[in-house]
Amino acid sequence: MTVQLLREQQTMLWTLAMHARDAASAQPILGDRFAADLLARVDDQPSLGVLALDGNTPLICTRARLIDDAARAFLARHDEAVVLHLGCGLDSRVLRLDPGPGVQWFDVDQEPVIELRRQFYDDRENVTTIAASVTEPGWSAGIPDDRPRLVLAEGLLMYLDPEGVRTAVRGALEPGGTLVADTTAPWVTSIAAWQPAMRSAGTGFRSSTADLDVAASSGTLADRVSLVDATATRTRGLTSTGIRLFGLVPGARDAMVLSTYET
Ligand SMILES: C[S@@+](CC[C@H](N)C(=O)[O-])C[C@H]1O[C@@H](n2cnc3c(N)ncnc32)[C@H](O)[C@@H]1O
Repeated sequence: MTVQLLREQQTMLWTLAMHARDAASAQPILGDRFAADLLARVDDQPSLGVLALDGNTPLICTRARLIDDAARAFLARHDEAVVLHLGCGLDSRVLRLDPGPGVQWFDVDQEPVIELRRQFYDDRENVTTIAASVTEPGWSAGIPDDRPRLVLAEGLLMYLDPEGVRTAVRGALEPGGTLVADTTAPWVTSIAAWQPAMRSAGTGFRSSTADLDVAASSGTLADRVSLVDATATRTRGLTSTGIRLFGLVPGARDAMVLSTYET
């Protein structure tokens, strides 16, 4: 890897490493069979243990699993859809979902990340990579607006400030479109900067769920799922019990939520 990743750009290696770890486990939640090979091609591989991220693997993989499921359901209804995969990192969602020939798929991330992605992924018909910041007005110009549109933003919005969330969501979400995005509670946003991994990358969270609600206010909140609850149901034993107990703490269930907005 000759590309230098800065601040929040590094975080996509963490999620990739968690996907690989989950896939190698006895009972994968996501089962991302591409993650380990992609990770093996990265020179500076993150150490989840050192970064104190080990314990986040079930949550992150549950999040990815729910978004995969939502996208599969959308594509089953709309075989000529446009999918915008914002803040895609190196995530293999397009390979996992393997959309049909009528679907146009756009993987969007910042320039260094997309440069790496282009090194690691073969060209694929109907898949376009866009190197842009979603906080720059106009980044979505040229994307077809005459088809059912699905916008996926996984592990992205919390790194944007409230104004950035508005620009990203309003730039992506056409009338008739569907947005699936995860966000965090304000208390998570506040403490994230103290997490060792965040500190090592020099990044942190800058917005919370309320900022998404403002940004997507032209639409209807069709669904909101607690990712704490969802993770508890997808894990077993002590891990599941620990997450369930955590969920009993006031405010904990909303620590991270997955929202679906329809416009
Ligand atoms: C936690 S990673 C998530 C990556 C991927 N969605 C996944 O779940 O594996 C956050 C991603 O958001 C991207 N990102 C952060 N700010 C961005 C911006 N302003 N425009 C586009 N992408 C951005 C980062 O570069 C990084 O790839």
